[in-house]
Amino acid sequence: MRFNIAIDGPSAAGKSTIADILAERLGYTHLDTGAMYRAVAYSALNKGIAYDDEENIVKMIEEMDLEMPADGRVILEGNDISEEIRKNEISMGASDVSKLEGCRKALVAMQQKICADGGYILDGRDIGTVVLKDAPVKIYMVASPEARAERRVKQNLKKGLEADYETILEDIKKRDYQDMHREHSPLTKAEDAVEIDTSYMTIEEVVTRVMEIIEEKTGV
Ligand code: DC
Repeated sequence: MRFNIAIDGPSAAGKSTIADILAERLGYTHLDTGAMYRAVAYSALNKGIAYDDEENIVKMIEEMDLEMPADGRVILEGNDISEEIRKNEISMGASDVSKLEGCRKALVAMQQKICADGGYILDGRDIGTVVLKDAPVKIYMVASPEARAERRVKQNLKKGLEADYETILEDIKKRDYQDMHREHSPLTKAEDAVEIDTSYMTIEEVVTRVMEIIEEKTGV
C-alpha cells in the first residue's frame, strides 16, 4: 500500500528540492501545490482579475484547464508556464490569492483528488494540517530567512531571474508573514509533524533525515 507524504514549511526552505529527490528514490510522484497557487495568480494577472476578487477568481478556477503532470511541469490551457510562475511578482500574487477561502477550497479538492490512491509527496503550507490530515509521514521544514534568501539567489542566478539578495530577503520575510497570519489555513506545523531545520544542512543530510523519519513512521 502506497501512502502519501506531507511536507510543509515557509518559502525556499528546500521543500521542492527534497520532495523531488524523495520521489525519485521511492518511485513516488511529487505534487508541488505552491505551483497551483502560482498558476492561479498567473492566470488572474493575464485575465486582468484582481488578486482579492474572490468571486471571479473562483469562477476562473472552475473553468481553468490546469495540468500538473508527474514530470513537474505546469501546463495552463495547453501552455507550459513552469518558468513564468517562478517570477517574483507571481510569488507575491500566489501568496495573495492563497488568502481567499474559495481559492483554497477549490485547490485543496483538486490536490486530494490527484493523490487519492497514494504514492504522492505533496509540498506546501497546509498539507499536514488540511490536505493530508491523515498522512503517516509529515515533515515541517524550516530554515532562517537569510539561509533561504542565499539559496534563492543561487537558484535565480542559474535561471537568469532577479537575484538581488536584499530584495529576495525582503520578499521572503513579507511572504512568511502573510502566509503565517492569513485567516484561512495559515502556515503552521501539524501536531504530528517532525520539524527539520535545514539552515546548516546539506541536501543529502536532509534527505537522509527524512528517509529515517519515513522508516520510523511506516517501517518502510
Ligand atoms: O511554495 P510556493 O512558494 O511556490 O507557494 C506560493 C504561495 O502559495 C505561498 O506564498 C503560499 C501559497 N501556498 C499555500 O497557501 N498553500 C499551499 N499548500 C502551497 C502554497
